[in-house]
Amino acid sequence: MKTSKKVGPQVSARDFLPTKLSLGNLRRAAADCKGCPLYENATHTVFGEGSANARLMLLGEQPGDAEDRECRPFVGPAGRLLREVLADVGIDFEEAYVTNAVKHFKWTPRGKRRLHAKPNSREVNACRPWLHAEIAVVNPTLIVCLGATAAQSLLGSGFRVTRERGKIITGSDLPPILATYHPSALLRAPDEASRRAMRREFMADLRRAAGFVELESRRTTRKSRRESV
Ligand code: URA
Ligand code: SF4
Repeated sequence: MKTSKKVGPQVSARDFLPTKLSLGNLRRAAADCKGCPLYENATHTVFGEGSANARLMLLGEQPGDAEDRECRPFVGPAGRLLREVLADVGIDFEEAYVTNAVKHFKWTPRGKRRLHAKPNSREVNACRPWLHAEIAVVNPTLIVCLGATAAQSLLGSGFRVTRERGKIITGSDLPPILATYHPSALLRAPDEASRRAMRREFMADLRRAAGFVELESRRTTRKSRRESV
């Protein structure tokens, strides 16, 4: 899709949203997004994946090197660890809707390697319309934010994962949210003891998320049964 829109400070993903929101339309439109400069140095828009009926949404920061090459979220080392921990707590990764706060890989060159660079607030703000559209379509029972960028995109820049980790946050216009570590934080842990401790906390948060989703769906099933008699 050709576009005549210029990239400037006012441009955001909003200018590229389709009129009819569906996951297919969003994915096709996002492939041509120029809502911030990050599309210039990345290979693909890595859009979210999963069913529009998913009850759990997993929200990461941005695609990494592997995700940019394969055009799929969480297929690199962080994704492997995430799948492993989810399986340990009985969550099927394939049943979740998996996406990122920012859809293009931001990186800096280091020799032949492309090193992850953290997206800034302008880029997160520019990309948020895609995320809000995904949330509107999927309407998940719970959004699990992996790390500060994901959590702050939805809950504001004042949100501190260190303080609020593992709590179910309700009351915004969005579905309930639980924020926890990003799996990369576990991979970067300075020593074995802290890595183990973080993994235990990460697992406890994800177990809580699974329990919440289960309870809510039992509640809604009971409610719809009551309403149909
Ligand atoms: N880290 C993320 O936050 N998202 C991905 O898709 C991969 C790594
Ligand atoms: Fe568009 Fe988001 Fe990519 Fe920026 S990072 S160009 S807003 S899809």
